Amino acid sequence: MQDRIVDALEKEEDVFEKNIRPQSLDEYVGQAEIKENLRVFIKAALMREEPLDHVLLYGPPGLGKTTLAHIIANELGSNIKTASGPSIEKTGDLAAVLSTLEPGDVLFIDEIHRMPKFIEEVLYPAMEDFEIDLVIGTDGKSKNIKIDLPPFTLVGATTRAGDISSPLRDRFGIISKLEYYKSEELQRIIKRTSRVLDMPIEEDAAEELSKRCRKTPRIANRLFKRVRDFALVEGDSIITKELTIKSLDRLKVDKYGLDAIDIEYLTSLITKFNGGPVGVETIATSIGEEVSTVEDVVEPFLLQEGFIKRTPRGRMATEKAYDHLKIGHNHSLF
Ligand SMILES: Nc1ncnc2c1ncn2[C@@H]1O[C@H](COP(=O)(O)OP(=O)(O)OP(=O)(O)O)[C@@H](O)[C@H]1O
Ligand SMILES: [Mg+2]
Repeated sequence: MQDRIVDALEKEEDVFEKNIRPQSLDEYVGQAEIKENLRVFIKAALMREEPLDHVLLYGPPGLGKTTLAHIIANELGSNIKTASGPSIEKTGDLAAVLSTLEPGDVLFIDEIHRMPKFIEEVLYPAMEDFEIDLVIGTDGKSKNIKIDLPPFTLVGATTRAGDISSPLRDRFGIISKLEYYKSEELQRIIKRTSRVLDMPIEEDAAEELSKRCRKTPRIANRLFKRVRDFALVEGDSIITKELTIKSLDRLKVDKYGLDAIDIEYLTSLITKFNGGPVGVETIATSIGEEVSTVEDVVEPFLLQEGFIKRTPRGRMATEKAYDHLKIGHNHSLF
């Protein structure tokens, strides 16, 4: 699949943006309910001098799970150790990470749903009783050993809460779902990024960007940086609305944040399949994409924004899609 600027998944360039990541709960924009709850739980844990309960963060990519995990550690005044589900392949891998923990540390496991089941089982006693049971040696002469761990807080992150087994989910005391951001919150994030990167942006330009970033801070920041490039090349010292519109049009990100692939999907659904219903395999083939790409990357946002709907007989275009593409039901352009 071609590279998409509106892809919510983390790209290499995003990793180098540590400086635009908020460091404290006060700097973290939006997610008010999660933030206020965490504030109370963190304060209580500090007062009791006990570790914070284990926290599970879930929600679509780019909404700030990793950022929040680091903030939790900062607010606790603790160190954070990080691991990711797919990188823990053997029980020994998990034991190695756990053995580096010091009292009160935060262990952040990203993509925790991708951890193999038999490793999850090692994690249970670690979460409940701060100990692990390991089997050492081979069949004939194996023995069980118990290792004590210091009290710690596990912060797990996942984009797929449904893929987490219930025994694992039940061991998290705090479970928080991150929501898509409101326009006003995205504008605050954009203005913050503008200050950190020292590139001023006008009020109405920030508003325009906030409408086209798919309600996702990661995309907002990425689009900001591209528009900043246009400003630099044009010799503008401030990002204006006019420049924002011009830049985003050139990047083929439309007023709803849809890009060329989204438009191709909708156009195909409407003009080749009469607006559906049509199966996802058929539509994927017609636009030359993998079914999994269409299901995981293209459709969620189109569904969320009401451009398509899922029916038992397949996908259907909504009135909003016809309106947006300016195509009539007989396929004529208005
Ligand atoms: N609430 C927020 N306030 C300000 N900036 C934010 C906020 N949430 C996220 N960001 C910005 O968006 C970027 C993406 O956030 P982050 O990497 O935490 O997302 P994520 O949910 O972990 O995504 P993934 O599921 O891909 O791991 C961060 O670099 C950060 O700068
Ligand atoms: Mg992350």
